[in-house]
Amino acid sequence: MTDGVAIGERRVASGEWAIRAHAKINLSLRVLGVRPDGYHLLRTVFQTLALHDDLEFDLREGPLALECDDPLVPVDRRNLVWKAAEIVWAAAGRTGEASGVGVRLTKRIPAQGGLGGGSSDAAAALVAFDALWQAQLGEERLSELAVKLGADVPFFLVGGTALGVDRGDRIEPMPDGPPRDVVLVFPAFGVSTPEAFRWFDQDADPAFETRARTTDVGAGRSSAAVRGDQAFDVFNELQAPVARRHPEIDDACRALLEAGADAAAMTGSGSTVFGLFAPGWGDAATAKVQSAGWRALATTAATRQATRPALEPAGRIRID
Ligand code: C5P
Repeated sequence: MTDGVAIGERRVASGEWAIRAHAKINLSLRVLGVRPDGYHLLRTVFQTLALHDDLEFDLREGPLALECDDPLVPVDRRNLVWKAAEIVWAAAGRTGEASGVGVRLTKRIPAQGGLGGGSSDAAAALVAFDALWQAQLGEERLSELAVKLGADVPFFLVGGTALGVDRGDRIEPMPDGPPRDVVLVFPAFGVSTPEAFRWFDQDADPAFETRARTTDVGAGRSSAAVRGDQAFDVFNELQAPVARRHPEIDDACRALLEAGADAAAMTGSGSTVFGLFAPGWGDAATAKVQSAGWRALATTAATRQATRPALEPAGRIRID
């Protein structure tokens, strides 16, 4: 570490810092209605995974800079990490262009997969920039800013197992679920989130509108319900409309069940499909689905403590 660089009006210790951005699956996802702004009312149980991207920060003079090992990821204002930087810079009351930090993003979470990669990067970046720029925005303010970056972003500030209601952005933490192996299967196509919701709307039966108006979607009622076994129901109401256009989704679920999964479903708006296994069974199951021709990876469900984003000196983080 050197003696520091000027960032805004303060001096901050320079050197490398790092933060992990974990992937998520939706153990369950129910679509309860449509809001006047077109967003869908959800009731979803999120679960963070050990699989993660890495963000490394180099404090230095000059404008904000972002680089990424995946050439398909934009490294400008279109990237949620950049947006997170600008939003924290402004919230901290700083003027001019965000500056004083170089960010290196290492991607492992596939894009357009329903695993929340971009959203998780954004949440990790909010936490990191808040610390690096000594903005001290606090949890509540950070989660307000997170909503502006995307409906999934607030969940990643909490991590672990959690219920999401409204747009999936009102988060109620739940106790960590049991340890499990999670096998991810990646079909050869991505699904954009707006597209999946559009397909859901196109396929919805006329009774859906009535149900949307009459269903209680409040977090209060849900909290009692999720404390029981229901928290571990596995299903996704976006799966049928996506699988109707891409039958591979249901094929991948079947392959996971044949490999011994306790349950399998699509995550989020797809296209990734996950299977839940008892601890220790994931690697063999992955080999089995791979031998059937699927692209697959074994990971595990991860606790809140292990996955809540926290900035650390780069030397202390395990890059694997
Ligand atoms: O908030 P986010 O950028 O992740 O959402 C992307 C798009 O997905 C939205 O513009 C909307 O079309 C759709 N969406 C939705 N209902 C949600 C979340 C997302 O319709 N609860």
